[in-house]
Amino acid sequence: MIKIEDLAVTFRTDHGDVHAVKNVSIHVAEGEFYTLLGPSGCGKTTTLRCLAGLERPTAGRILLNGETVFDGARGITVPTHQRDIAMVFQSYAIWPHLTVFENVAFPLREMRPRVQDAEIKDRVARSLELVQLTGYDERPAPFLSGGQQQRLALARAICRESPVVLLDEPLSNLDAKLRAETRLELRSLVKRLGMTAVYVTHDQTEALTMADRVAVMNSGEIVQESPPREIYQKPISRFVASFIGQINFLEGEIKEKGVVDTPAGKLRYVDKDGPEPGTKVTVAIRPENLFPDTKGASQDANLLDGIVEEVIFLGGILECTVKTGSAQLTMQLHPAHGPEPGAGVTLRVQPDDVNILRK
Ligand SMILES: Nc1ncnc2c1ncn2[C@@H]1O[C@H](COP(=O)(O)OP(=O)(O)OP(=O)(O)O)[C@@H](O)[C@H]1O
Ligand SMILES: [Mg+2]
Repeated sequence: MIKIEDLAVTFRTDHGDVHAVKNVSIHVAEGEFYTLLGPSGCGKTTTLRCLAGLERPTAGRILLNGETVFDGARGITVPTHQRDIAMVFQSYAIWPHLTVFENVAFPLREMRPRVQDAEIKDRVARSLELVQLTGYDERPAPFLSGGQQQRLALARAICRESPVVLLDEPLSNLDAKLRAETRLELRSLVKRLGMTAVYVTHDQTEALTMADRVAVMNSGEIVQESPPREIYQKPISRFVASFIGQINFLEGEIKEKGVVDTPAGKLRYVDKDGPEPGTKVTVAIRPENLFPDTKGASQDANLLDGIVEEVIFLGGILECTVKTGSAQLTMQLHPAHGPEPGAGVTLRVQPDDVNILRK
């Protein structure tokens, strides 16, 4: 459905060149909800703008539904209005001088061949209903709450009935509660309409909960692309591991295939074409994958003896810092099973949960 190949964008500024996007390749399947996740300035918006035809790439190719809309080498650029895509901007871009109805109707009025008035009315009504803004038609757009404005921006994108929708941090202006409510609503709306979505965010929870696949970006490059679970459980680099969720890092050295030496002790891991013995690596373990050992637990687990240093109550979980060897590891526990500071504890971690990172 969407193919981006070797995309590069370089901005020329007074202070030199900014390589905003470097060699990005993305394939998004029809009906897929694809998320670009990364820190501020990593090139997410620029990539999206290239798809929409609002930014001219320096090099690469972009195909939408089989049609080449940009090809740097062949000098092809299809202008924005000829690309059948809808976009929700980072800053909503709602027209303050127009009513809710006219905001949604605007892109339809611009379409060629012309859309009849009766159909415009119909499609606007349907879009407003989908985002639960029925009855707000005549209200001036600025007299909506932040959440309602966000839904208005969404309605405007939906009413074009384009097969592709690009969303640039559409929930970032909402308060935490509304954001959580809107996440799944938005995903199911896009799925129900059968749209292919590229969704940009710097919020890990949004990426994990909404996406079919996540591409993590850093400095203009995609550093990992996987389903959310894999991104979380099997990060390939220190950057990805620390960008998503909490994690313990240990400096290690591969002792033999499947065994790594760390300041916390020797740990067995599942070796799949991993680094050779002698290689210096980073070992990453999620706090929820560390357990206090109980008798009869699985025999192939790693066991580490330690002392509980600190116990922090976080409501639904307890966060315990445990000193083991010369390392400190954070473990998350159910509050009912909290050890006291100073207590001895044996930590258990499965080899499959010991991640070996090269970078
Ligand atoms: N028109 C421009 N001229 C020069 N530099 C630009 C321009 N637009 C973007 N940049 C730079 O390109 C890089 C990528 O910007 P981009 O807006 O794509 O980041 P982003 O990932 O969307 O960040 P954010 O999460 O803050 O929105 C940044 O370093 C930015 O300063
Ligand atoms: Mg941006």
